[in-house]
Amino acid sequence: MDHFTYNNGELFAENVPVSKIAAELGTPTYIYSKNTLITHYQRIAEAFAPLHPLIAYSIKSCSNINIVRTLVDQGCGMDITSGGELYRALKAGCNANKIVFAGVGKTDHEINDALVAQSTGIRCFNCESEEEFWNLDRLAGIKGLRPQAALRVNPDVQNKGGTHQKTFTGKKETKFGVDIDRAAAFYREAQKAKHARLTAVDLHIGSPIKITAPYIDAITKALALTDELANDGIAIETLDIGGGYAAFYEGNEAPPASAYAQAIVPLLKDRVAKGLKIVLEPGRSISCNAGILLAQVQYTKIGGTKKFIIVDAAMNDLIRPTLYESYHFIWPTKGIVPPSRQSSLRIAGDEKVDVVGPICESGDYLAKDRYLPPLKRGDLIAVYSAGAYGMSMASNYNARPRAAEVLVDGDRYQVIRRRETYEDLVRGE
Ligand code: LLP
Repeated sequence: MDHFTYNNGELFAENVPVSKIAAELGTPTYIYSKNTLITHYQRIAEAFAPLHPLIAYSIKSCSNINIVRTLVDQGCGMDITSGGELYRALKAGCNANKIVFAGVGKTDHEINDALVAQSTGIRCFNCESEEEFWNLDRLAGIKGLRPQAALRVNPDVQNKGGTHQKTFTGKKETKFGVDIDRAAAFYREAQKAKHARLTAVDLHIGSPIKITAPYIDAITKALALTDELANDGIAIETLDIGGGYAAFYEGNEAPPASAYAQAIVPLLKDRVAKGLKIVLEPGRSISCNAGILLAQVQYTKIGGTKKFIIVDAAMNDLIRPTLYESYHFIWPTKGIVPPSRQSSLRIAGDEKVDVVGPICESGDYLAKDRYLPPLKRGDLIAVYSAGAYGMSMASNYNARPRAAEVLVDGDRYQVIRRRETYEDLVRGE
């Protein structure tokens, strides 16, 4: 699952004791394992290899340019959703023709930048409304360009696949994409466009989708659309099936990449043989298990019937528990080796605690009613499965400088983002 393992009762990131990183750099600190990152990317690449897809890593999940560069070196492309993400992707060395651009509100400025990125422009604009497509066509016309576009089709999938309300996108009445029942008519209409070429179909149904059925449903609907269009002489060159493949928070609850591929590849293999190109946009399934958040216990106290463990990481560092009631396994970095990462884990002598941060909100917690070995001031804890939507969603709330990020590779490690300073906080004000 990852390269965060205990050695003689001490947590290591690959071959580096995490306590060494804490001693040098302090806490809170995000620690990434390069080899976990690469392994998770490779599992997806291998599982979907029969489709020869472009794997466009969803950069929003973990966007440090050093992480992105590691994936670019593996041949990975990027799924972006803003001008800032385009900047990061290019800065990390990603080829523009491996970049796909989603997002419901692309500004003219962002579209223009993407049209001329590395002079060739990006590979595909995943348009989320009819109006956006015509705006792309207009902007491309001004520059005399012929960009490829997809319509992000909302397939109205009913089964949420275990995802949270706030991260399910595949149903009507979400702000994403265009309802599938309007799509065919729009593809016909868009044939009039003089500049943008609407020759791709895009899907992204949510994140994470823990079962394969919603993918099968969505892809089947998208293929029916491409067949309908083919009958009208409209050729779809590319199908982007989006991301949302699950990661491991508790243990083995996520289907492995091979299980998703087993469900999806048979639907698409013949089409690929006939020339259809496939794009995938995995984020979490690559980055989630490659990162932990290291924090230190500041105080412990009793409040009514509860025991609180107050640590130096907070909702500004990792907002997922607060925002989605997400479970992240937490464990001290020294002492008892955790027998599993399951939410039901109990060991002799454990205590029921809330792990909370120092922010002035009762929603500031990393875990609630969690059984942990006894903890005391100064102990280090690791918050697991924090590589995706951890640092990339971090903020400066309560004027807290954002954490440092460290990338471990074997027995070496490197600071890939220094801890913010107080001056950083007021820069630009
Ligand atoms: N493609 C598009 C168009 C997306 O919007 C997303 C994620 C992905 C791909 C990648 O999904 P992934 O493979 O990482 O599941 N902050 C939430 C997740 C929000 C996902 C937003 N879009 C969380 O922490 O769970």
